[in-house]
Amino acid sequence: MERNRYAAPPMEKIRVGFIGIGERGTTAVFRTSGIPGVETAAMADLRPRQCENAKAWLEEKGRPGAKKIHAGAEESWKALCDDPDVDVVYVTAPAPLHARMELYALRAGKHVLTEVPGARTIDEAWEIVETCEKARRHCMMLENCCYGEMEMFAWNLAHKGLLGTLVHAEGGYVHNLVWRQQEDDFRNRRFFDAPEVHDFGNTYPTHALGPICLYMDVNRGDRMERIVSMSSLAAAHSEYAAAKFPPDSWQRRTRWRTGDMNTSIIRTARGRTIMMQYSIDSPRPYSRINLIQGTKGCFCDYPPRLALADVPGGEAEWMDDAAFEKARREHMHPLWKTAGELAARDGGHGGMDFVMDLRWVWCMRNGLPLDMDVYDLASWSSIVPCSAESDRRGGEPVELPDFTRGAWRTAEPTSIGDVDLAKLGF
Ligand SMILES: NC(=O)c1ccc[n+]([C@@H]2O[C@H](COP(=O)([O-])OP(=O)(O)OC[C@H]3O[C@@H](n4cnc5c(N)ncnc54)[C@H](O)[C@@H]3O)[C@@H](O)[C@H]2O)c1
Repeated sequence: MERNRYAAPPMEKIRVGFIGIGERGTTAVFRTSGIPGVETAAMADLRPRQCENAKAWLEEKGRPGAKKIHAGAEESWKALCDDPDVDVVYVTAPAPLHARMELYALRAGKHVLTEVPGARTIDEAWEIVETCEKARRHCMMLENCCYGEMEMFAWNLAHKGLLGTLVHAEGGYVHNLVWRQQEDDFRNRRFFDAPEVHDFGNTYPTHALGPICLYMDVNRGDRMERIVSMSSLAAAHSEYAAAKFPPDSWQRRTRWRTGDMNTSIIRTARGRTIMMQYSIDSPRPYSRINLIQGTKGCFCDYPPRLALADVPGGEAEWMDDAAFEKARREHMHPLWKTAGELAARDGGHGGMDFVMDLRWVWCMRNGLPLDMDVYDLASWSSIVPCSAESDRRGGEPVELPDFTRGAWRTAEPTSIGDVDLAKLGF
């Protein structure tokens, strides 16, 4: 079959409806409302107050859009999807709701942008692929880490061929969230009821995996074939609770299942390996690891380091600071050269959230395919159930579905391009 390189007709004005105006949703509304051509058409949340606060901010800043509010009930968001004045539905609700919201919005004829992960089961992932193909609409997962400055630098090194033949990568989401137990508020209560802390496997894989798949052109010349996954014991959450809270507290009564460290390894059709780690319970400092290794070189982040050999298989040392800085300037991705200053101002996670939003806006306004599509959403998200299955079975290999149905063999690699700020209206 032919790979769906879907592109919609150019859109001069993009009317966005946001579902889930919590931490991510509020910042997404604020960020995107500053990009020319984007209008905040509507917002939906279980809690009306969240939408009202965001609306008040938008009005104070004079940001465009009707700013309609659909709030107060579990399914108020459906009215936003059915609203003829909404072109794009931007989902920032809790993860277990993503698939239902994506499917409903696609069936209502909307383009969909969704927070991570885009699906939590294989059935959901297939249904999203099939519904998207039928609807002929965009459906992109908002994997912001693909747009980090160092990730785009590494993407550029890989695609310029400076690392040689790519053979291996490592990624991670090592982010201590144990402290969230201290805050007994709405969001944290929900967080500790969420599957992310009570499932086997890697329950939050896409920050680690997304950038690596773009380096390796996964789904466009290669594909992830199988995974093995194992978790350590779960200890840090309970030990923290025991040290901090009384015996009858909800923190002490909670039984944490997700291991303090999950390690998964994926093998691709072209024989590459991808190692991923997931830990939200470790004193180990924050890291997405972000390592990409080829026959001629290796880049690794946290802190950023680069080693380049003269010949494939040649010896190489990490560059010193001056040499690395020279390489960073020389091979910085054009998008970061263009947007780095604005990203630093309008930011989100070191600027990458803004760069991500800028890029999909540019693509939609110019009728271009998006950098990531529904096949990426499905295959990256499929790591949630497949790593859980492997982990539950003591680390046995689990086959990963080919959501492109063979089209990965002939699909062209994605070329993440630049944007023109003046043409966008900045
Ligand atoms: N990409 C990233 O860097 C990143 C970072 C954090 C979270 N996330 C993802 O973003 C999503 C949201 O996370 P968050 O931290 O903003 O959570 P949050 O709890 O702060 O926000 C979620 C919002 O959704 C609302 N909501 C709940 N049920 C709803 C319903 N039925 N209809 C409408 N609204 C509903 C809640 O009231 C809340 O305001 C999650 O899926 C998470 O995985 C991504």
